[in-house]
Amino acid sequence: MELLYEGKSKRIYGVNEREVFVEFKDDVTAFDGKKKASPEGKGKATAEISSLLFEYLSSKGIPTHYIGKGEGGFYAKKVRILPVEVVVRNVATGSIVKRLGLEKGKELTPPLVEYFYKSDELGDPLVCADHIVYFKWATEEELKKMKELSLRATELLKDVFASAGLKLVDIKYEFGYDPDGNLVLADEISPDTCRIWDENGRSLDKDVFRKDLGDIVEAYGEVLRRLRDVLGTPLKSRT
Ligand code: TMP
Ligand code: ASP
Repeated sequence: MELLYEGKSKRIYGVNEREVFVEFKDDVTAFDGKKKASPEGKGKATAEISSLLFEYLSSKGIPTHYIGKGEGGFYAKKVRILPVEVVVRNVATGSIVKRLGLEKGKELTPPLVEYFYKSDELGDPLVCADHIVYFKWATEEELKKMKELSLRATELLKDVFASAGLKLVDIKYEFGYDPDGNLVLADEISPDTCRIWDENGRSLDKDVFRKDLGDIVEAYGEVLRRLRDVLGTPLKSRT
């Protein structure tokens, strides 16, 4: 397969005109790539968790780019990604705590939606809906659809995580257009792109790496083990 793109944690290979293979690397970065490591087994864990969660969301009617699991990654529809990251927060922590002076751990009910402009050079700044429409990163209609899908996906995932004894604190989504012109949930859904706390408030996500809280592969392995107990092993293969 031809390598189309290499990012900080993934490689995208072309399969054919309409499909790609998303391979997960062990590499993990934080703080705009300033902190780096490559713990063995991290890619496999994020690939498995992403596959399980995309498969689950697809089964519940959320349109996604996911096609089926492969070795160390998954097959997906080739998408044109919109440069907007949608973050849904169920609990206040991370950047919003610093930005607005909120108490860490404050429940956000109903969930709060925030938008970030996808730009590595600018460090993914927080933007408002008007910026997105004004600068044509997405239309008003696309933005409405992304917000609705993000909230629906979060509701579904929150319940799955709760069944696994885990709390989905916040999560980041990206969307793109598939070859048939459908707006679909894309990128990845893993502990690299969301925050997950266990019963004791222990982080089982990338904060383990960001804040040096322990072994990230062990933490992701725990998430995977618990999600498998609830959802089963992803078995759908590409063909
Ligand atoms: P934040 O609290 O740092 O704004 O992060 C909110 C959520 O978005 C959290 O689940 C982590 C995720 N996220 C990404 O997936 N990529 C990023 O580059 C950043 C900064 C956050
Ligand atoms: N993903 C970003 C980076 O690699 C930021 C983060 O997740 O903390 O720098």
